[in-house]
Amino acid sequence: MRRYLSLFAGFLILAVAMVAALMLSGQMSQWSGHAIPGWVTAALAGVMGMLAGWAILPTWWRGVLLVAPLVIWGGSQLHPGWFLAAAVVLILLQYNAIRHRVPLYRSGREVIDALARRLEEDEVTRFVDIGCGDGHVVAALARRFPDRRFTGFETAPLLYLIARWRCRHLENCRIYFRDFWNVPWRDFDAVYAFLSPEPMLRVWRKVQRELPEWGKLYSLSFEVPGIEPDALDGAGQFDLLSYRNLAGRSTAVNDRAG
Ligand SMILES: C[S@@+](CC[C@H](N)C(=O)[O-])C[C@H]1O[C@@H](n2cnc3c(N)ncnc32)[C@H](O)[C@@H]1O
Repeated sequence: MRRYLSLFAGFLILAVAMVAALMLSGQMSQWSGHAIPGWVTAALAGVMGMLAGWAILPTWWRGVLLVAPLVIWGGSQLHPGWFLAAAVVLILLQYNAIRHRVPLYRSGREVIDALARRLEEDEVTRFVDIGCGDGHVVAALARRFPDRRFTGFETAPLLYLIARWRCRHLENCRIYFRDFWNVPWRDFDAVYAFLSPEPMLRVWRKVQRELPEWGKLYSLSFEVPGIEPDALDGAGQFDLLSYRNLAGRSTAVNDRAG
């Protein structure tokens, strides 16, 4: 509820600051006899909005209020073709946010370190990142462990191309333009998932069915419902959950869901 209140307050302040800056610019134009450039009005609105929200809104609003009027002004100056181009790039990047409701957000450096420790400890040799994004996780791990195999599946076109490019010199890193649900996982002994809460039960069933009995599932941030992770490593702002002993573990949720 507080979040919605601050959202409402933020937009209200933005709107009021923009109206006030427009009125002030109008007055200044009249006094000086010169038209005030649009970007000056937008910058004025930004400063006024930022100052107005300074004490009452969360700190990240300051930057938003400062630049939003300039972005809106800049947008109004642009050819509509740029918006079309931006929409196409967004779709190429966030294709799976629409198709599978899994948007792109990247694992940070701490996550790669935590995964590397897990790979050492669990003696993982064939690792797959299901939904590998721009491939930075598999590329970083492939560099650290040149004698182990790393695979990434990705279906957002632009991300797939970037991931391929990242791994172009890494013999032990392969990226495939494949929907990870439609490929067998039996060639891997560890699956890494950073997806969303929704598919976790389905991921669990697939690792149980297809991974060897020593297989592992590593999930960043999202739990398998009803299954207790075997280990939990802090990895920056998220936790890395590790599931071992895949075979023979079931839960009420798992049993019910079939
Ligand atoms: C949250 S991002 C994680 C990216 C990367 N694994 C990381 O940890 O930085 C999830 C990725 O999964 C991809 N994705 C979602 N569903 C997919 C599917 N069924 N097949 C292939 N990729 C998928 C999305 O395009 C997105 O890049």
